[in-house]
Amino acid sequence: MVVGGLGYIGSHTVLELLKEGYNVLVVDDLSNSYEDVLSRISTLAIEYYATQEKTMPALHFRQLDYRSPAMKSVLASYASYSVSSKPAPIAKGFPFSQLHRTDSGIDMDMDDAEPTVERQSRISGVIHFAAYKSVEESIRMPLRYYSNNVCGLVDFLALLEEFGIKNLVFSSSATVYGEGANCGIPLREELCVHHPETFLDNDGSERQVLPGVLGLTSPYGRSKFMCESILADLAKSDPTWSITALRYFNPVGCHESGILGEDPRQKPSNLIPVIATVLTGAKPVLDVFGTDWNTPDGTAVRDFIHVVDLARGHIAALAASAAGRTKAPFRAYNLGTGRGHTVREVLRSLEQASQRKIPAREVGRRAGDVGFCVAEVQRAETELQWRAERTLDDCSGDVWNFTKARCPEIPETDSMVC
Ligand code: NAD
Ligand code: WQD
Repeated sequence: MVVGGLGYIGSHTVLELLKEGYNVLVVDDLSNSYEDVLSRISTLAIEYYATQEKTMPALHFRQLDYRSPAMKSVLASYASYSVSSKPAPIAKGFPFSQLHRTDSGIDMDMDDAEPTVERQSRISGVIHFAAYKSVEESIRMPLRYYSNNVCGLVDFLALLEEFGIKNLVFSSSATVYGEGANCGIPLREELCVHHPETFLDNDGSERQVLPGVLGLTSPYGRSKFMCESILADLAKSDPTWSITALRYFNPVGCHESGILGEDPRQKPSNLIPVIATVLTGAKPVLDVFGTDWNTPDGTAVRDFIHVVDLARGHIAALAASAAGRTKAPFRAYNLGTGRGHTVREVLRSLEQASQRKIPAREVGRRAGDVGFCVAEVQRAETELQWRAERTLDDCSGDVWNFTKARCPEIPETDSMVC
């Protein structure tokens, strides 16, 4: 089950899951996405399976706020019940009159035993993307963010527990490192932990780190930190959970077909989507926020990761969890490339891909920004056996494809540069 599966990262992940042979149930309330994303995913999956000698898995969709009471019926419709006739009391809360569905068939011998009803879900795991993500909006409307991102998660976890679904991959963010990112070196997961954790330092010596994080810069950032803390506490209380928090760095790019990409209802504020609006002419000029950072060209450095690599990271996380490689009932991983690029480098890469001059002007730093944010990727490489493969130029090429496909009136040869 993929919650928030029609959004930017979710849609690319659903496609990769289908390609891996998973049956997928998507739950999304379309608060920041459109239903036609579903048919785009299907089109690409059908194209993929046309070249394979395998049957395409199922793709189901429920348009639903994951906080709504109707989520319980969705989970119930994916549960199956079996009845054993061992002498045991009937499981509390599940009298036969409440059985919704039986996949394996109920075969009861009522002669001498009290039957036990066992509920099992056909949902083998959940990837949880559903959240609001605008840093700026979270400062203006913190309750909206805490309600969806944090309270929503708490109730959802209780529901999953009720149905015995304890395998979860959670969308976290490099934002949990807060101002710690400014240390200027790749960020290790140990910089933000939720319980005391012992790890091997670079020289091989054992070190213990204490829980905590440095200067989170927005309610959005705090919501992700709180979610991770809640997940870590839950896993500690019940080690039968397997929870993987993936801390994404800067997801960019899109599917190479140009059919699937970043298509939010919200006005874009991230660098590459904003550049795309300048390329289409919807925005006249890019504001470059801050040129006085301590970086090679003065503009901020980020670890831009192609969204398809990121999507593959989720497949790797599911596989690693199934193989017991994720070590703890709760474990956090950075998903990044380990390589930083400046804002100016991004601009140049998109100019190259589009063969157009992108108007830009230098303005002051944006409130809450950090100058440097790059992932240390070793933990993901070792335990998830995953690493990013695509480059910034791959991202730019794919974004340009998607932008042209959605905005065909951009003249092919107008204002050529470079
Ligand atoms: P997105 O807004 O494109 O996708 C989120 C999807 O969840 C949308 O389709 C939205 O309609 C849906 N949704 C939101 N609230 C919901 C609810 N209550 N019930 C059901 N559906 C709901 O965002 P994205 O960029 O794909 O991000 C996915 C996740 O990754 C989020 O949790 C986000 O915080 C996290 N993340 C994103 C980035 C990034 O830069 N894009 C970076 C780090 C972490
Ligand atoms: C990158 C760089 C900007 C727009 C944000 C969230 C983070 C995560 C990813 C969810 C910065 C500069 C941007 C523009 C610019 N999201 N920029 N002009 O800020 O690293 O991360 O998205 O978890 O939590 O904070 O990404 O793409 O917004 O900015 O100069 O019009 O580009 O100042 O230096 P950021 P970004």
